Amino acid sequence: MTVRLAQISDLHFGRDVPAVARALLADLREAAPAMVAVCGDLTQRATAAEFAAARAFLDELPAPALVVPGNHDLPGWRVWSRFGRPWRLWRLHIGTDPGEAVTHTADGLVAVGVTTARRWGPHHDWSRGRINSPQLAAILAAFAAAPRDDLRVLVAHHPFLLTPPVLGRGLVGRSGLALRRLGGQADLLLGGHTHLAYSGVVNGLVVAQSGTACSDRHKGEPNSYNLIDADGDHLTVSTRRWNGDRFAAHQRSEYLRAGHEWRAV
Ligand SMILES: [Fe+2]
Ligand SMILES: [Fe+2]
Repeated sequence: MTVRLAQISDLHFGRDVPAVARALLADLREAAPAMVAVCGDLTQRATAAEFAAARAFLDELPAPALVVPGNHDLPGWRVWSRFGRPWRLWRLHIGTDPGEAVTHTADGLVAVGVTTARRWGPHHDWSRGRINSPQLAAILAAFAAAPRDDLRVLVAHHPFLLTPPVLGRGLVGRSGLALRRLGGQADLLLGGHTHLAYSGVVNGLVVAQSGTACSDRHKGEPNSYNLIDADGDHLTVSTRRWNGDRFAAHQRSEYLRAGHEWRAV
């Protein structure tokens, strides 16, 4: 059976372009995915108004959404909020607990989302994220409970694969540990944060990154999102890009699985 997912990221309400957001919803309705993975940075400054706008957008999605936060969904320099109640507005508007993994299952699909954004980090750049051992254990437990033939998807914000223009931004912290533990256990790792669309294979896993879906925070390329179609041992990542008028097919990458390992075609 074919499973179709949509991957959207870095919506950045507060810096959203309303015409692009409307066109994105229209394109998603047409694509009719079984699930929409929302890979974080729903807001620009984590304000109540931005979360309310993000919530209204999520309510319009034509499929169940699995939503994880990004670094912009933490109060930036509102230090008391950042350390005292970092996820208060997230919980209020989005309704999930960023401290727990979230799971969505559908026919042929198990998807788990984890929070990789952190209140602080042991480096100067607190926009960087991390994945930890309890999160990996929760992900593996959800995958282990699913039928063996299901597509196994991890949804996060920070990237497991970088591309030359963003090499300096850093992989998600502990990505090496995560890739070792997820090897042969997961199929697809979805992320955002870089605002660039690309995909590839790392340690036998397909990694797909989508650009900023509907904000004006372009990092050298237009708004985009991904449609991912998986059918047994065949998977395609199709990037749909904003062309000034609507979202249209831009680029397509194909992957095949042999045993537990995926490779690019
Ligand atoms: Fe972002
Ligand atoms: Fe980010």
